Amino acid sequence: MPDIILGIESSCDDTSAAVLKDGYLLSNIIASQDVHKSYGGVVPELASRAHELNIVPVVNEALTKAGVKVEDLTAIAFTRGPGLLGSLLVGTSFAKALALSHNIPLVPVNHLQGHLLANFVKQYDKPDNAPNFPFICLLVSGGNSQIVRVDSPIKFTILGQTIDDAVGEAFDKCSKMMGLGYPGGPIIDRLAKQGDPNRFKFSKPNIKGLDYSFSGIKTSLLYFVRDEIAKNPNFMEENKEDICASFQKALIDILMDKLIKAMEETGIKEVTIGGGVSANSGLRQRVVEEGEKRGWNTYLPEFKFTTDNAAMIAITGYLQYLEGRKCGLDIAPVSRIADYTK
Ligand code: KG4
Repeated sequence: MPDIILGIESSCDDTSAAVLKDGYLLSNIIASQDVHKSYGGVVPELASRAHELNIVPVVNEALTKAGVKVEDLTAIAFTRGPGLLGSLLVGTSFAKALALSHNIPLVPVNHLQGHLLANFVKQYDKPDNAPNFPFICLLVSGGNSQIVRVDSPIKFTILGQTIDDAVGEAFDKCSKMMGLGYPGGPIIDRLAKQGDPNRFKFSKPNIKGLDYSFSGIKTSLLYFVRDEIAKNPNFMEENKEDICASFQKALIDILMDKLIKAMEETGIKEVTIGGGVSANSGLRQRVVEEGEKRGWNTYLPEFKFTTDNAAMIAITGYLQYLEGRKCGLDIAPVSRIADYTK
């Protein structure tokens, strides 16, 4: 009998369901919520309401596309947290109801562990992209910037993390400040491709160990743009490509300095990146380049697995189910998980 897992993700503003058979992806459906665009950020109440509308059709579509019936499921994996509580409640309640009605085991998944293990999703038409344990993952998103050592599907050690803003926040807030739009990461990434990354310099933070800080560089960009606009009101319009390229390079330099340090200190040669910012073309290129120089085995996630998706929740649930993880129907979602490694 094959193991068939349904994954459900609803931690923020994407409602997603995916089906895996023995770790191979059969379907991965994502309903994104455009309603937030005009607000320049996710509005929690609107997100929960959209999840309520989307969850049944999204799960139905995932099962239909996979050719799987609910009674064929081995387990249901769902995102328990961290995320927006109202959003998490929709996915968790739905998963619990489906599990109860068909007597199917439930597996709670930590969203960040999902990003860390996303490369383990297998696809029939592609070569395997999973790193060997132990590996290092640079986990970079709108809410996190961490360097994590992964020893097994259930053993994680955070080696370093941001002490203030996440790198995705720096992309988003700076894009908003420059009037470029939301979400900022993809916009800055696109403009950066046409600009000179060495034209402007931004100061790097001096933080101990493997931790990060991104609030200083955000302020430094703010003052820089403000001062230049005072001299030339068209400064932004005339230089936005070079500003984006230089700012993006500065962020990538900060990320890479600590990643290199982590690889050297641990002696591990397997490396992955994960989370929304791992879609950044400049970061992907740098990780590959440094990897070639330093003899790393580098595994980049496919773009569809960098943003929130249920395939990564399903594979994490599956690998952890094989390790014995399950939960009862009394489980509740959690918006914050101080230390997910415990
Ligand atoms: O992991 P994710 O989808 O969601 C959460 O953080 O919950 O990450 C979203 C973040 C946003 O900050 C967005 O600007 C950033 O990922 N992002 C990017 C790119 N695509 C998405 N940042 C830089 N370059 C990109 N191409």
